[in-house]
Amino acid sequence: MGKLDGRVAVVTGAGSGIGLATARLFAGEGARVAVVDLRGEAAEDAARGIRQEGGEAIAVAADVSRPADAERLVEEAVRAFGALHVLHNNAGVLLPGTVTTISLEDWERTLAVNLTGAFLCSRFAIPRIIESGGGSVIHTASSAGLVAEKDIAAYCATKGALVMLTKQMALDYARDGVRVNCICPGWIDTAFNDPVIERAGGREALEPWLDAMVPMGRQGTPEEVASAALFLASEDSSLVTGHALVVDAGLTAQ
Ligand SMILES: NC(=O)c1ccc[n+]([C@@H]2O[C@H](COP(=O)([O-])OP(=O)(O)OC[C@H]3O[C@@H](n4cnc5c(N)ncnc54)[C@H](O)[C@@H]3O)[C@@H](O)[C@H]2O)c1
Repeated sequence: MGKLDGRVAVVTGAGSGIGLATARLFAGEGARVAVVDLRGEAAEDAARGIRQEGGEAIAVAADVSRPADAERLVEEAVRAFGALHVLHNNAGVLLPGTVTTISLEDWERTLAVNLTGAFLCSRFAIPRIIESGGGSVIHTASSAGLVAEKDIAAYCATKGALVMLTKQMALDYARDGVRVNCICPGWIDTAFNDPVIERAGGREALEPWLDAMVPMGRQGTPEEVASAALFLASEDSSLVTGHALVVDAGLTAQ
C-alpha cells in the first residue's frame, strides 16, 4: 500500500531537483503524477523515468507564470487521470540583486514565477481538488522566506510572501477539505544554486561555508525535501494546515 494510492498529483518545476525527486517519490507511493516544467524535454525525461520505474506519469510543458498555461496544466492532469488531489507549487527562479541593483525585468520575473505562478496554479487547481473530494496544496517556499539573505531581494520577498499565502489559503479552504502548507528548504544540492556557488568562488569555497553556516554541516538532498512533501501530501498530515515546514539542517534555528 502506497501513501498516495488513488491520488492524482501535479508537481511544477519537476524537470529537475526537488520537483523531480518529489514527483518520483509521489509516483512510488502510488500517485498518478503530472510532471510540469518550463523545459518540456526535462518534463518528458522525468515522466519517462517514472514510467520506467513502474509509476504513472504524464509530462506537461508549461510556464506557471502564464495564466493560460496554469489553466492548461491543471486540465491536462484532470483529463489524463480523472481527478486532482495534490498540487505542489515548486517551480521557482533565483535572480540575484539588491533593490538598487536588480533590474526591473528580473524583479518582475521572480515575482511572476515564484509568487504569481503559485497563485495561478492554485486558482485553477483548487476547484478541481474540491470536486475530487479534497486534498493538499504545497508551496515550496525557502529558508529565505523566514530569514533574510543578502543580495537576493526579489527571491526573499517572494518566498516570504509564499509563507504568508500558505497561512491565508489554509483559512479560506479549511472547510473544503483542502489543506495548504509550505516547505522551507535550506541549502539543497541542486542545479539551482550553481550560479550562487560560481559567484562565491566555486565548489571548493562551498564546503568551508557550509561547515561554518549550517549546523548539520552539509547540504540537503532533493530526496530529503521530497520526504517532507510526501508527509504534507498524504494523510499522515491530516490535521496539518497553514504550516511552514522547515527542512534546512538547522540553518534557521540559529
Ligand atoms: N536548491 C535549494 O537550495 C533551494 C532552497 C530553498 C528553496 N528552493 C526552492 O525549491 C524549488 C525547486 O528548486 P530546485 O532547487 O529543485 O531547482 P532546479 O533548478 O533543480 O528546479 C527548478 C525547476 O523549475 C523549473 N522552472 C523554472 N521556471 C519555471 C516556470 N516559469 N514554469 C515551470 N517550471 C519552471 C526549471 O526549469 C527547473 O526544472 C524552487 O522554488 C526553489 O526556490 C531551493
